[in-house]
Amino acid sequence: MSETIYLNGKLIPKTEASISPEDRGFNFADGIYEVIKYYGGKPFRYADHMDRLRRSLREIRIDFDDFDQLETVFQTLLEQNGLASQEAGIYLQITRGSHTRIHRFPENIKPTVYATVFPFASKPDQLKNGVKAITAADIRWLRCDIKSISLLPNVLFAQEAEEHGAAETIFIRNGIVTEGTHSSFMAVKDGVVYTHPDSNLILPGITKKVIIEICKTHNIRLVEEGIPASELAGLDEMMIVGTGSEVTPIVQLDDKPVGNGKLGPVTRFIQEKFFEQTQF
Ligand SMILES: Cc1ncc(COP(=O)(O)O)c(C=O)c1O
Repeated sequence: MSETIYLNGKLIPKTEASISPEDRGFNFADGIYEVIKYYGGKPFRYADHMDRLRRSLREIRIDFDDFDQLETVFQTLLEQNGLASQEAGIYLQITRGSHTRIHRFPENIKPTVYATVFPFASKPDQLKNGVKAITAADIRWLRCDIKSISLLPNVLFAQEAEEHGAAETIFIRNGIVTEGTHSSFMAVKDGVVYTHPDSNLILPGITKKVIIEICKTHNIRLVEEGIPASELAGLDEMMIVGTGSEVTPIVQLDDKPVGNGKLGPVTRFIQEKFFEQTQF
């Protein structure tokens, strides 16, 4: 049975989906996206994802306001694809639409709206034993706060990680750690959690926001300040956090172990509190 996807108001078999070669997503990466994780058919932090979606659309000036029907569309996709009772991801992409190729915004253009669902299981081995990450210069643009589909640097450095046997590349801009290619970065030193503050240089990660809330609730000191790359070697614990990564410890950065090279106590505690929230 063919997968069902959602495209421009219709639920259709993926094999019947067609998008114009003049779609501005294809020609210019002129669009934005969201990824939402469903645990047993229930979305995690749905409202936060919708707020960020609205913000991304506003920032690149795409006119789309049909938000109310999306939740039903996503539920139907989960059900029709047999993923309503397991861990699944929804990928939603909205581009400016299709038009003869001109750089400026065309008039009378209708956004292309696409959503699909995929199995999105946690990775227990990585959560428990941690992963290796590498560092690289952050060569991205200065609006990383927009969840843009223009992800070429992220793609190139995810590949770089792969070729080094690592799970993620952590970007460094002007000597300060920003985030990963597909995750936020958090670190621990002497029991204090550090992470980059929301700004134009990083995506406002929803998982990071959840962890900040966890730290506040449990009186873990949290400092939203960019971590100097020169201090990375002295940190006790590091994590990559995100919708897919959840709370994954980094146990090796470049060629050096992080702390004692094992899942640390603060990361373990945050993991525990995080997964309490994904049990609905
Ligand atoms: C560049 C980047 N930063 C951070 C994140 C984490 O964001 P979230 O926790 O909302 O998934 C992602 C997630 O895909 C990402 O692509």
